[in-house]
Amino acid sequence: MLRLVPPAGIPVSVTDIFKIISARISSADKKTDFEETIKKITGAKCCWLVNSGRAANYLILKSLYELSGKAKNEVVIPAYTCFSVPASIAKAGLKIRLVDIEPNNLDYDYDKLSRCDFSKSLAILPVNLFGIVSDWNKLRMAVSDSGLYFVDDSAQTLGLSYNGVKCGSLGDVGFLSFGRGKNLTTYSGGAIVTSDDKIGDCIEKYMRELPSPNPLVELRILTEFLFYAIMMRPWLYRLPAVLPFLGLGKTVYDEGFAVESMTRLQKTIGTIISGNFQRIVQIRASNASRLAKGISNRGGYSIPGWNTGAAIPFIRLPILAKDESTRNLAVKRLFHIGIGASAMYPSAIDEIPSIKEALVNLTDDFSGARDVSRRLFTLPTHAYLTANDIDNIIACLRDIGK
Ligand SMILES: Cc1ncc(COP(=O)(O)O)c(C=O)c1O
Repeated sequence: MLRLVPPAGIPVSVTDIFKIISARISSADKKTDFEETIKKITGAKCCWLVNSGRAANYLILKSLYELSGKAKNEVVIPAYTCFSVPASIAKAGLKIRLVDIEPNNLDYDYDKLSRCDFSKSLAILPVNLFGIVSDWNKLRMAVSDSGLYFVDDSAQTLGLSYNGVKCGSLGDVGFLSFGRGKNLTTYSGGAIVTSDDKIGDCIEKYMRELPSPNPLVELRILTEFLFYAIMMRPWLYRLPAVLPFLGLGKTVYDEGFAVESMTRLQKTIGTIISGNFQRIVQIRASNASRLAKGISNRGGYSIPGWNTGAAIPFIRLPILAKDESTRNLAVKRLFHIGIGASAMYPSAIDEIPSIKEALVNLTDDFSGARDVSRRLFTLPTHAYLTANDIDNIIACLRDIGK
């Protein structure tokens, strides 16, 4: 079959492409209001736009380290997450303390978290994967009196909330990613958000020191964005998916990323795409719940973070197969019937070979994270997924699980 639904992404219409190009040309020297949009979505007082989520996290950690008087240098993160989270910590010259996660809900294992030694810890990040918001009450209780800063990594939870507080604003400072598979995209990009004046002043100082992006960067982004917007259509996606040099879906650990401010083109993309934000989120919630209802509790599959009453806008729907071979078979068979499922991050963070030196608790038990890295796969939830695709996915997974 030629048709292939991408594992994640945001459909971009031809009209949006024209709007982006004409807005970029006509606003050559004007500011866009993308910062204001992000402040509204996160409820934060201040927002700074940068070239990626990892750059945002890096700048936050540098600022917090400076504000703490450089007394504490460890950052607590989940042992299963996007590889760029530990990369930002290592690039900032800080150490990584891993805490295991709970496979059933993809949140921290709060028992293990509450037993950690935080005497050298500067900050903690929630898990917040796929659209599942971490339990902030448990998080705060597990680390109470430790003086940690909370950094709300909302790369995958933008537009969601916890007890009425918007994601991005649940900690002292937060960051977002506008990568291609997120709830809002600028093709690549990120943001720092905070309502804390002290942290804000420090971040402002680092932002003033950032190099402006080279004009050629904008040209590169425009070319790649146009390619992405067109090739993401399921009738075309099989081509980029099989071109190895594009590296689509590959997870690599890389501390050598650039830290720059966001280009005007990316701000324009963000402004235009944010006009569709509510629709993007609603479609995801509806597709995810139709998939989840058909798959959950059958053939040994379970869906972390989902229950029948919930309408969660999963950016990808996470599924736990009963074992690794069933997971691998599911990804392979789904690809064959035209569905891009993803096995996500290839290992727990402690298993990344080049990371060992930056870890402070290598010998702890990360069995939950390892289990998830072997059994988890994700399904697309975006608007290119049709009702027919959903039926085919459910039938395929039930057949494997028989
Ligand atoms: C949980 C999480 N944190 C941080 C990041 C880093 O964002 P970026 O890819 O924009 O650097 C990502 C990226 O996918 C992520 O999923």
